[in-house]
Amino acid sequence: MIKVNFDIPLDLFRTATPPMLGVDISTSSIKLVELGALPKNAGYILERYAIEPLPKGAVQDGNIDKIEVVASALQHGWKRLGSRIANVALALPTAAVITKKISLPAELNEEDMEYQVEAEANQYIPFSLDEVNLDFQVLGASAAGEEEVEVLLAASRKANIEDYVAVAQTAGLKAVVVDVESYARERALFLVGEQLPNGVRDKCVAFIDIGAASLNLDVLCNGQSVYTRDHQLGGEQLTQQIQDAFGLSREKAEAGKRGEGVLSASYAHDLLQPFVDNVAAEITRALQFFYTSSQYAQVDYVVLAGGSAVLPGLDAAVAAAAEVNTLVANPFAGMTISSRIRPELLQRDAPALMTACGLALRRFDPS
Ligand SMILES: Nc1ncnc2c1ncn2[C@@H]1O[C@H](COP(=O)(O)OP(=O)(O)OP(=O)(O)O)[C@@H](O)[C@H]1O
Ligand SMILES: [Mg+2]
Repeated sequence: MIKVNFDIPLDLFRTATPPMLGVDISTSSIKLVELGALPKNAGYILERYAIEPLPKGAVQDGNIDKIEVVASALQHGWKRLGSRIANVALALPTAAVITKKISLPAELNEEDMEYQVEAEANQYIPFSLDEVNLDFQVLGASAAGEEEVEVLLAASRKANIEDYVAVAQTAGLKAVVVDVESYARERALFLVGEQLPNGVRDKCVAFIDIGAASLNLDVLCNGQSVYTRDHQLGGEQLTQQIQDAFGLSREKAEAGKRGEGVLSASYAHDLLQPFVDNVAAEITRALQFFYTSSQYAQVDYVVLAGGSAVLPGLDAAVAAAAEVNTLVANPFAGMTISSRIRPELLQRDAPALMTACGLALRRFDPS
């Protein structure tokens, strides 16, 4: 499984992984997840989670525009979480990271490999190496032959990483892992396999995250990502329509959407249904595009994640339009759930916690 940890000033080659929380800083909110491991390899336990809303404009397109605002939300979210763990695993937005698979001689030792990776990285990265943080991971034998190994290199501008690290620090927490959002999410997808009779490992799964501002499609076949696309479509659009149609504040519109407040009777027919149909049509088009541009003619499952995945009727609309078995992701399906957590709330929130859960799993890496 791919795992990236950018070289923030910490000991990358430590032998024991410290306890850490998964913290996903995204457009609409900060999600915090604490996982534990049960004794005797009895699996994971979801100890705690919290979702702390962010004001509009604090994080946009994955950029942290207001560090103080985000840090104070993180601090607040962490207090609500009630954990003693102050180490956090964060994720950079996928678009902020350049990745490249290269082949290197298998016999290289760690130091030589680092040297080679830097030399190769120079060719692919449009910035000076002084400005970037670099990480690499040996993925395994290369298709090119036995003497070669396939290596994934990942690079991101230092300025990007520094903002994330600064948010944690200002909130009184410590970033010990800086990963990439898509990798964290894919890690959690394997847990979603618990919801399916035969898992997801040898299947083709269209993994669709519908957040506030964006819809992200990631097709994984046999555990490998074969296609990704981003679309500018998300739940925020519906929130805005509710605000405009009923003259409501953003908070009231959000609450109404979640079924916590009462919306006018015309909401379901005039706003929700057209939005759901539009999302289903966009997903169907995106899948058609994938089929025509790849060797694959069908996916086995569509897995819907992100906060907007729980919109009433969305899974059925996608299943009907795209003619694929569709389910709403629950990364905690195979886990023990702490008695602190209310199952009905978790049911609603779980699809939005994929990235945070994938980050929380980093705690159990034998790094
Ligand atoms: N219970 C719910 N019912 C309907 N919509 C919901 C619910 N919970 C969250 N949402 C919507 O989901 C969106 C937030 O989803 P999510 O937290 O996955 O987005 P994000 O990661 O912050 O955004 P992005 O991925 O676009 O950066 C918001 O538009 C919110 O209104
Ligand atoms: Mg998101």
